Amino acid sequence: MSVTNFTGGAKPPSPGDPDTKVTVSALAEMKRQGKPISALTAYDYSSSRLADEAGVDLLLVGDSLAMVVLGHENTMAVTLDEMLHHTRAVRRAVRRALIVADMPFGSYHGAVTEALANAVRFVKEAGAEAVKIEGPRVELVRALTEAEIPVVGHLGLTPQSILRMGGYRVQARTADTANQLKANAQALADAGAGLLVLEGIPREVAAEITAESPIPTIGIGAGPDCDGQILVFHDLLNLTFAPAAKFVRRFADAGLLIRSAIEHYREDVEHRAFPSDEESYHLPKAAKESMAAAAKNHVLRQA
Ligand code: KIV
Repeated sequence: MSVTNFTGGAKPPSPGDPDTKVTVSALAEMKRQGKPISALTAYDYSSSRLADEAGVDLLLVGDSLAMVVLGHENTMAVTLDEMLHHTRAVRRAVRRALIVADMPFGSYHGAVTEALANAVRFVKEAGAEAVKIEGPRVELVRALTEAEIPVVGHLGLTPQSILRMGGYRVQARTADTANQLKANAQALADAGAGLLVLEGIPREVAAEITAESPIPTIGIGAGPDCDGQILVFHDLLNLTFAPAAKFVRRFADAGLLIRSAIEHYREDVEHRAFPSDEESYHLPKAAKESMAAAAKNHVLRQA
């Protein structure tokens, strides 16, 4: 008996349909059909489960977790083991969305064989279905693709290059740098990348790349013409502690909600309003009576 269930090819994921597993080829089909792809970062079990149940197509275990979850100043410090740990948590939560793991700084910047071994760990030990790498690393994308690991490229404002770039700045703002970016995008697609994240670039450049690209583009700060959009979970919900970048839209104020719920809890504890009698466990009647009788006997013996 075969353990493989051969479906009839890549069906485009239909938003909200919990039975359609999202694959890289299904996302390519969405591009062909002009259906926008929704993507979000994910770092832990409960929030990933909510995002998956909300029908998001792609969940990226982004190295942004260094900042929004672990409190580092930038993404450079997060380790391979930390990324694997969070990818496993997301894997346990997600049924439908494609899970992409961000390879952290230093895990793919040396020899290709070492990068390949690290990427294999994301798939084998953490259940990632693709890995994301920053920059025009064409040789590495080819090697990963040949090793059967789907790759998501990431061009434009690449946060792991912050030391070289000297800050978070919009990229490709001149004709020369825009043309270079377009060439890099084409090279990554030719090398086998399945998707391309475009971050922090002018809308016009992202639109041209998207129109010419054979693979879906996912934008963040790259305007509305990309094939899909990604936001950082904490940005979308206002769970950050700094002013938002221009491209961020707060779809809810979870920060306010959480803060006021916790303040309410603290006040109720301080006023002995929590827990109430209804929120307490009670002795069964028989045990209560026998304890009362024992207490009465004790008092009588002492009298
Ligand atoms: O780590 C991350 O969150 C990312 C997204 C911004 C694309 O790389």
